[in-house]
Amino acid sequence: MEVVIVPDAKAGGELIAEAMAALLRRKPDALLGVATGSTPLPIYEALTGKVQRGEVDASKARICQLDEYVGLPAGHPESYRATVLRQVVEPLGLTEASFMGPDGSASDIPAACEAYDRALAEAGGVDLQLLGIGTDGHIGFNEPCSSLASRTRIKTLTEQTLVDNARFFDGDIEQVPHHVITQGIGTIMEARHLVLLATGEGKADAVAATVEGPVAAIVPASALQLHRHATVVVDEAAASKLKLADYFRHTYANKPTWQGL
Ligand code: F6R
Repeated sequence: MEVVIVPDAKAGGELIAEAMAALLRRKPDALLGVATGSTPLPIYEALTGKVQRGEVDASKARICQLDEYVGLPAGHPESYRATVLRQVVEPLGLTEASFMGPDGSASDIPAACEAYDRALAEAGGVDLQLLGIGTDGHIGFNEPCSSLASRTRIKTLTEQTLVDNARFFDGDIEQVPHHVITQGIGTIMEARHLVLLATGEGKADAVAATVEGPVAAIVPASALQLHRHATVVVDEAAASKLKLADYFRHTYANKPTWQGL
């Protein structure tokens, strides 16, 4: 794993946006897997800036979603489809035609999950998958003790994630859907490059367990240790519990060895 420690969230966003831009220069129709939540916003802002300044052409990019709430009415502003369209697809000047996501309002959810895994494979697989991390170590919505081989499926959110996400629903935990569709850990692991961004002290324990702990289903993000090209970008606060922080600074901070950068 490449562990890149950056001063702050903005620097992390800039670094990852540059990796995405480099990928698009190499492969204009790359399939970019995006995440929702607060953490990736500096990435989207930095990438949009690069597109607007003409530093990269994203017009052929394809975007796919990591997860989705189940049961929100179509078009709900906090559905992840609406969120990704608002935060990524539209700012990059793309249309819904270049976007793929699981159908959280399907009447047959297991079939919708299978269809999404199939669609990702038929699209040639994800070139670069962005990930955030939950305070409980989840990636996508693979909560602790998710199978490390899991495929896209329905999951129940933990109490901790309901509390963490209530801020997107007027602080009202009652409004947060309890169920989600998420790419499975096995599905996520098929992406060619995984890039996880974690910022803030609240993520420090989860980051330490992910990077330096054993590979274990209790910390779903620890599966990244088994991926052939995983990059973990953390700000100083999120890196504060890493025993090997100095080694990572020395090895990666000034000279990321990311393939493709
Ligand atoms: C959302 C997702 C989640 C979030 C995680 C962190 O698509 O995949 O795993 O990345 O819950 O959320 P924030 O960034 O809001 O702390």
